[in-house]
Amino acid sequence: MDRDAAKKAAGEAAATLVQDGMDLGLGTGSTAACALDAIGRRVREEDLDVRGVPTSFGAERRARAHGIPLTTLDEVSTLDLAVDGADEVNEGLQLIKGGGGAHSREKVVATQAERFVVLVDPTKQVSQLGEQMPVPVEVLPMAVAPVRQALEDLGARPELRMSTEKDGPVVTDQGLWLLDAYFPDGVTDPEALNRTLCRRPGVLDHGLFLHEATDLFVGHPEGTVDRISA
Ligand code: A5P
Repeated sequence: MDRDAAKKAAGEAAATLVQDGMDLGLGTGSTAACALDAIGRRVREEDLDVRGVPTSFGAERRARAHGIPLTTLDEVSTLDLAVDGADEVNEGLQLIKGGGGAHSREKVVATQAERFVVLVDPTKQVSQLGEQMPVPVEVLPMAVAPVRQALEDLGARPELRMSTEKDGPVVTDQGLWLLDAYFPDGVTDPEALNRTLCRRPGVLDHGLFLHEATDLFVGHPEGTVDRISA
């Protein structure tokens, strides 16, 4: 499957939702990048007056390159529309995010959005979360050992995400580390895992997005897009 073409179809469909005057959440990753490219094109060609809150250093840089004006949640408390990718999505529009380590900021932005449109290619659709991907957990470096133990107690196999650029862990935009929690049988009770991880000292946030998505756009290589509403 030509996944790049599928991501582009989803990203371009998302960009058609943007209207003049909107405040936007700008997601992270290769699929969200397709949306940012298409939004940037519309901003330039149609002289749209929009403002975006980026979810990562990467999203900020891409938005700047396209001339999409940026703002912060200090300036705008409610976003009209946020667009972002996902690593897995189930039939209930629940997600695993954070393959790029940006999930904590992504969740803040998604939570402030009236409409949160998730963009995927068909390979991301699963019947059970955790089937293919781990649940990323962003952790204070000094808390990695106890959080790792807590994840093991929950039946996970946690791995500290290591950098491919240097000898050391991946460091997030917040200066924290990532534990990728692999669940051998998938995440059987996402709500319980969400509650447990949210209560765990040393955890900033995790990659389960259980109630945020309002829409799912599944792009296909030939250019069609399935639009599913929550
Ligand atoms: C970033 O941390 C993630 O949540 C991404 O949104 C997610 O990993 C999807 O990325 P791709 O679109 O590159 O697969």
